Amino acid sequence: MNIAIIGTGFVGVVSSAVFASHGHHVWGIDIDSSKIAKLNQGIAPFFEPGLEELLQEGIRSELLTFTTDYAAAIPSAEVVMITVGTPSSPEGKADLSYVLSACESLGPHLRPGAVVVIKSTVPPGSFQQVAAVLSNTTKVSYHLASVPEFLREGSAVADTVSPDRIVLGVTDEISENVLTKLHKPFQAPLVVTKPESAQLGKYAANAYLALRIGFINQIADFCEASGADVNDVIKIIGHDRRIGSHYWYPGLGYGGSCFPKDVRELAYSSKVLSLGETLFTSLNSINSARIAKKLAAWGKSVNGFSHKRVAVLGLSFKPSTTDLRESPALTVIPYLLDQGATVVGFDPMAVEEAEKLLPAHEKLQLTSNLATAIEDADILLALIEWPQIITHNYQAKKGRPQWFIDARNQFNPQQLRQAGFTYIGIGSPISGGLS
Ligand code: UDX
Repeated sequence: MNIAIIGTGFVGVVSSAVFASHGHHVWGIDIDSSKIAKLNQGIAPFFEPGLEELLQEGIRSELLTFTTDYAAAIPSAEVVMITVGTPSSPEGKADLSYVLSACESLGPHLRPGAVVVIKSTVPPGSFQQVAAVLSNTTKVSYHLASVPEFLREGSAVADTVSPDRIVLGVTDEISENVLTKLHKPFQAPLVVTKPESAQLGKYAANAYLALRIGFINQIADFCEASGADVNDVIKIIGHDRRIGSHYWYPGLGYGGSCFPKDVRELAYSSKVLSLGETLFTSLNSINSARIAKKLAAWGKSVNGFSHKRVAVLGLSFKPSTTDLRESPALTVIPYLLDQGATVVGFDPMAVEEAEKLLPAHEKLQLTSNLATAIEDADILLALIEWPQIITHNYQAKKGRPQWFIDARNQFNPQQLRQAGFTYIGIGSPISGGLS
């Protein structure tokens, strides 16, 4: 099949490489010519495990080409996928301008009978808006469908190759048949539905996962205040087969490019639809306030951050990615600097990206060397569970107090106490150590 994929973000690049690896002819399109030039050399614009190998294979086999030219890519495409971003506006509304502008650009070149697929995360109700723009810009008949994407950063290739489900939001039999055939090799359960359900299904999945995180964080706070231990509470609830023990670890709240944005959109849309008070509004405000709340509590436990040297371990929003969107480091580091701390930020891969996003400051240093980061630190603050961070053998310097703050509950408190640290986790009482 000939496929054109518009937008070379996570979803677009990964989908392009995966569809090419299935033997399809794929054109990836973006307006950013420097990105396109690199992609044509097999260089991904971001780190994602397994992606560059797949890109290079696609380019070598000549099944995969990237271009800025809609006129080169769209006329032959039987399926055109839109995978551009839908960022949050200040009031939480998903901004559809990139989706609509992609439609304006592709419309004039569309081949008769092509299936146009919205893969970007768009709220229910957007389908008609997209159809209206497309119909204004094309003279040919086309089919419009919504096929949301559920991949996670850091495992995007694996998630695309083996998805938990494929959702086809369609309004006619032709698009259903074309898209069923295209997705058959993935061997995933297929849900065929109307576009609105497909779109809301994507928001509901993300909001539910975000809610789980918000819920366990509140239970963790309850544990700290009442002397219970959240790890044991997770074991207890996890044995319930209706609940399960996965995707339950507490921390500083959810971040990344999807959960915060999608929860805000649901909160916004619920207001527009006059649904009254919703979980989404509360979830968003609880999650947004969480980092400041935890930092204030930890500040008290370490007798203030002022004049302390803090090693902040993990700058990306999660392991195996260089993405810092809504990463805890972006809030934590400015707060610590503001409190008068000296900060050394460590990340195995995301330092270059962090340098662009964190303000230059005389008391801030960023490094991809863990030993440099922890040298002489008074406080080690582990933000992200990169394997390099959680497998390191940490030892406190003899004779002086050192704190280890485990913001992901990834470490063995006993071991760290024996290594001389005062251990502070999430959802358990603070005890032990030198102080
Ligand atoms: C998420 C969804 O998982 C994916 O299906 C969707 O397509 C896009 O959004 P992603 O943002 O890549 O993917 O990361 P994910 O691993 O789900 O984590 C999101 C955030 O939740 C991160 O900040 C992570 O640290 C946090 N998280 C996750 C927790 O705090 N606790 C958990 O138990 C799991």
